[in-house]
Amino acid sequence: MTTEGRSSGAGSFEEPHALGHDQFLDEVHSFEFWFQAVEGYLSGRPYGHSVGGDDDAPESDSARDALITTLCNYCIGETAALEASSGMIGFAPNRHAKIFLATQVVDEARHLEVLMRRLADLGVKDAETEIERRANPALRHFKKRLLQLVDGKDWEAAVFAQNVILEAMEFTVFQAHAERTDPITREVLEGIIKDERRHMGFGENDLGRRLIAAPHIRARLAEVRRELDPLVLDTFEHTLEQVGVPMDQRPELGRRYLASVTRLGFDE
Ligand SMILES: [Fe+2]
Ligand SMILES: [Fe+2]
Repeated sequence: MTTEGRSSGAGSFEEPHALGHDQFLDEVHSFEFWFQAVEGYLSGRPYGHSVGGDDDAPESDSARDALITTLCNYCIGETAALEASSGMIGFAPNRHAKIFLATQVVDEARHLEVLMRRLADLGVKDAETEIERRANPALRHFKKRLLQLVDGKDWEAAVFAQNVILEAMEFTVFQAHAERTDPITREVLEGIIKDERRHMGFGENDLGRRLIAAPHIRARLAEVRRELDPLVLDTFEHTLEQVGVPMDQRPELGRRYLASVTRLGFDE
């Protein structure tokens, strides 16, 4: 679990890793921790950025159109996370997890809000219609499967699909995009990336403990991964092309995603 963004002046907070297990969860899965984390990168940034003026839009119509398509698809991923994390509160195995998920719901709604605001800045009048029109079928399918796992109250599979696979996908794509976009979009994405890192930390921590206690879960998660990885890689292909990642660099980013899921301990 990352401690990034924590105020160093928070005297009442100990280093989380030095805490006992229950205390750790109590401390990290709290709005107190969340507030201290987000304060550093959200205050003074209405709608996720501090860049003034409006001369930062993409230079050509085709670049603007590609950015709109990309942001529309990010809105689908963020809506998936918003709906999934709120649904998971109802069957989360303990109160610490419910509180953490409530902070995640707020994060995901904020991500959706700032992305829709960016779409409006770029001249999109009807975001709902544009999102539907520009949706990547693989990402739409991913969302449907994630919400089915949530509907089935399958805690391990839902945490895995959302807090490991979806977050690792977003983390990799947003980073690649932030490196090659306009200043406003970059700052918006950098703020989102910091939240996604916290969400991945939750998944890693929760599933890591469960896999130690019940190793048989691993086989089922590997099955979920076999189904969802192709959808993620398909989404990657389209999005990386839209954000201008050269063709020869795309396989490396796909590998980075696969490696990050594997590093979290979820190899096939
Ligand atoms: Fe998000
Ligand atoms: Fe997230």
